[in-house]
Amino acid sequence: MKTLEGRVAIITGAGRGIGREHALLFAREGAKVVVNDLGGDARGEGADKTPAQQVVEEIKAAGGEAVANYDDVADWEGAQRLVNQAVETFGDLHILVNNAGILRDRMLVNMSPEEWDAVIRVHLRGHFCTTRWAASYWRDQSKEGREVPRAVVNTSSTSGLFGNRGQTNYGAAKTGIATFSIIADAELARYGVRVNCIAPAAATRLIGTVSPGAEMPEPAPGEWTPMHPGNISPFVAYLCTESCPIHGRVFFVHGGSIYLFKPFSIVDEIKKEGFWSVEELQKEAARFADVEFDLGHPLAGMLWGGPGG
Ligand SMILES: NC(=O)c1ccc[n+]([C@@H]2O[C@H](COP(=O)([O-])OP(=O)(O)OC[C@H]3O[C@@H](n4cnc5c(N)ncnc54)[C@H](O)[C@@H]3O)[C@@H](O)[C@H]2O)c1
Repeated sequence: MKTLEGRVAIITGAGRGIGREHALLFAREGAKVVVNDLGGDARGEGADKTPAQQVVEEIKAAGGEAVANYDDVADWEGAQRLVNQAVETFGDLHILVNNAGILRDRMLVNMSPEEWDAVIRVHLRGHFCTTRWAASYWRDQSKEGREVPRAVVNTSSTSGLFGNRGQTNYGAAKTGIATFSIIADAELARYGVRVNCIAPAAATRLIGTVSPGAEMPEPAPGEWTPMHPGNISPFVAYLCTESCPIHGRVFFVHGGSIYLFKPFSIVDEIKKEGFWSVEELQKEAARFADVEFDLGHPLAGMLWGGPGG
């Protein structure tokens, strides 16, 4: 039996790049897929139905089931239409993969409010709107006694979790998405929903805008390369299988490697029973500057020259 047989999945931003690979794999594994994509450019400008349509045609040609959706994930009503379309077309919703994304990189000192808002909107609000409508559908199902295993996989980035210069907007949104996932998991567990989060790294049109040197030629069909976007999808599919026990976790997925993150953790402490004076802190707290603060990026220097590089 296929690992996602009969599961109904929404994949956002599935017309291109990593989302397209998710949609094709999910369909091969037996899922009925709603292929969402607004079809704009990498900055999030414009709209085009072709990318989502082509992925649906590809899935159908291979014998799978899929339907296209062209809504903007950050549009409140659009996100509701997306969730409704899955339920109306395929009878239920088991899986939501929030993957749609854009970039508007700029050094902070030059960043416009429009560049800030556009990136925060598509990523943070785009994760919120779809998850919110799916959650209210799942709560209703649970109240009516129809509780089956459900899964959400969100998409963060090492640009947020490790930091990357020129991406205060994107990094803030992507770190927010990791925390959003941990909290949503805690809230939705009562309805049988597991929420996890991945930070991928793969050669797509987006990475070309961050690190022009990281662009790679299109791999030949069937050829494995560490930056192939198809490397990300099997783990995302695994997280969405009915029997997967993992929830509330954040992973970095690249090539054949899957890394599990530890959340923010405390590494040092100073303490006093009472109010500190600033003068006391001048003596006691300065040592925090010397505590090792290694972010532990496994690819530091390979892709982006490390945090800030
Ligand atoms: N490629 C990487 O190395 C990398 C690294 C870290 C994170 N990511 C994240 O992975 C996800 C996929 O990115 P990708 O690299 O495949 O890029 P991509 O540009 O190839 O694909 C993103 C897709 O999202 C769609 N989209 C954008 N805004 C949308 C909206 N408002 N509503 C619906 N669809 C929308 C686009 O049309 C596009 O098809 C993004 O969230 C990105 O931030 C990618």
